Amino acid sequence: MDTLKERINQLSKELNKHNYNYYVLNQPSITDFEFDKMLEELNKLENEYPQYKLADSPTQRVGSDITNKFETVEHEFQMLSLGNTYSEEDLNEFNNRVIKELETEPEYVCELKFDGASISVTYANGIFTRAVTRGDGAKGDNVTENIKTIKSIPLSIDSKKISDKFEVRGEIIMPHSTFAELNTLREKNDDSPFANPRNATSGSIKMIDSREVAKRKLDCYFYYMMGKSLPSETHFESLELLKDAGFKVSEHSKLCNNIEDVFNYIHYWDSERHNLAYDIDGIVIKVNSFKMQEMLGYTAKNPKWAISYKFKAEQVITKLLSIDYQVGRTGAITPVANLEPIQLAGTIVKRASLHNADQIALHDIRIGDMVYLEKGGEIIPKIVGVKIHEQDSSPTQFISNCPECGAKLIRVDGEAKHYCPNANNCPPQIKGKIEHFISRKAMNIDSIGEETVAQFYDNGLVKNVADLYSLTKEMILPLERMADKSADNIINSIENSKKTGFESVLFALGIRFVGETVAKKIAYAFKNIENLAKATKDELLEVDEIGERIAESIIQYFEDTNNIKIIAALMNAGVNFEVTEEEKLSENLKDLKIIISGTFQRHSRDELKDLIEKHGGKNVSSISKNTDFLLAGDNIGPSKLEKANKIGIKIISEEDFEQML
Ligand code: IVH
Repeated sequence: MDTLKERINQLSKELNKHNYNYYVLNQPSITDFEFDKMLEELNKLENEYPQYKLADSPTQRVGSDITNKFETVEHEFQMLSLGNTYSEEDLNEFNNRVIKELETEPEYVCELKFDGASISVTYANGIFTRAVTRGDGAKGDNVTENIKTIKSIPLSIDSKKISDKFEVRGEIIMPHSTFAELNTLREKNDDSPFANPRNATSGSIKMIDSREVAKRKLDCYFYYMMGKSLPSETHFESLELLKDAGFKVSEHSKLCNNIEDVFNYIHYWDSERHNLAYDIDGIVIKVNSFKMQEMLGYTAKNPKWAISYKFKAEQVITKLLSIDYQVGRTGAITPVANLEPIQLAGTIVKRASLHNADQIALHDIRIGDMVYLEKGGEIIPKIVGVKIHEQDSSPTQFISNCPECGAKLIRVDGEAKHYCPNANNCPPQIKGKIEHFISRKAMNIDSIGEETVAQFYDNGLVKNVADLYSLTKEMILPLERMADKSADNIINSIENSKKTGFESVLFALGIRFVGETVAKKIAYAFKNIENLAKATKDELLEVDEIGERIAESIIQYFEDTNNIKIIAALMNAGVNFEVTEEEKLSENLKDLKIIISGTFQRHSRDELKDLIEKHGGKNVSSISKNTDFLLAGDNIGPSKLEKANKIGIKIISEEDFEQML
């Protein structure tokens, strides 16, 4: 028996090694025939003695007939995206911001920006345990079984080299040759071909049958590692570590000493990219030192220590057939161009946003014109100019009435968009407001989708967000396609949403210009809805990041009696309109202006910022005589320290700060 177990172990180990040689190192060490023979033997033994099958067995690479369910799971560490730049000027600005904060020019790592689908893979005790798509950054789809079929991704690694538990991030790609093969096959089978390798990749990793995924010959490059107490101090070292541990890491990443080196790298790859075996859409630039990365911190969506540089967009010319006007949830009108279909950067484009009346006037865009179409970093292509006007054409007249409800449109001075003012009766605005209210970062009522909102509205069950709380199971069960279980889920998740924090409720109300971050700031500043409703413009302007435009929009919101009625109904239903007791009590830092500098032992800089704001203080970014405290960590910039001493600003440590709280 033991010898059988040993044989299984030996075959697994050898086959994994051959896979690594072939798919990661590109150095085959055995013929395909020999490989297949060994795999066949292992498969047979595992079937007979399943108790000996190893967690990293190479037989998993062929996929299985178990139907994939793709559960949505939470990422342990959020998957952020990168800020984009499109010009050298923007990149210089990024570099200047970094230098200003660090008070020195850092080393950068330049990498190719792979154009595929990002993935996060978890290794526990050296074994591949989970693979999750990016999703919305906080939650993604569990695609473990499909990703295990990608042969360049190790099923086990030497965990001593990295850590007992960590996540590694990378991009799944489909090389050009595989893409061409796949499309030829699809056309032969009368399946529609994929528009580009990126679409083919994302389509492949979401296939129900993992055996089919195995046939798609996907590949993966890794570029980032996350976990607690990882062994390296710089990003470049962590890439080396990943490579040593058996991951496929791009050989083209480069350590740059200054921004000139970064520009050289970009220029080189702008032309060389056409010789790669796969698509890239830009270059990623990352600050090398982890300490410096921490000092730079994050915005809500992106790290401030990295940025992507996108290569110039591809441009084509096509005919503008007609213009539609869409109404958003805030009543903003967006003109949309219908175009003669044309191939652009791998996809067929039929529609493009025209943004607003000014943009149409700026380029004098007329129906029938031949227009320049471009796809930049955005997913939606845009019209960037007119090649020739159609004969006898006349300038485009922007509509004057709402295409949905007929109300006369308004345009506020200084704003680019036209608005439909009929907020309480215009159907797409009402539906849009409800969709925003239930969205994940708002009330997070995830059992209701766009279609259900339309059903509720069209059947007269919900005319505003407060009506959601009067729904009963009996009311919704008769609706088309509504099963007993979904009805229960809907009612339960609406009930659960009453516990949502005040800052998210405030965001959910959909007050114009009040995004997630602003909602947080005003929730902490005013503590409850009554205080906010009676706040004067001056009081609003005192809050960090609230300018004229936001203050006026908030005042206007509370002047509308319909909004007051909805809030009252939400309150009656039990929705939460105040911050927690804990948040209420903490005003220890009220009105204090605090600047943060350096790295800290117990908190990240973002946590410190949050703490300052939650306790009524203000986090400022540059020192002046109005600054109250300099919260100083390790490696604080010498010029900041000098300036603080000169003006006589009190310097406090992380411990002092905790005491103050
Ligand atoms: S780093 C916190 N490096 O680009 C930093 N991303 O907009 C995380 N991508 O979602 C990303 N190549 O899918 C990084 N060398 C590279 C990349 C890369 C492609 C993708 C990735 C990410 C998106 C960011």
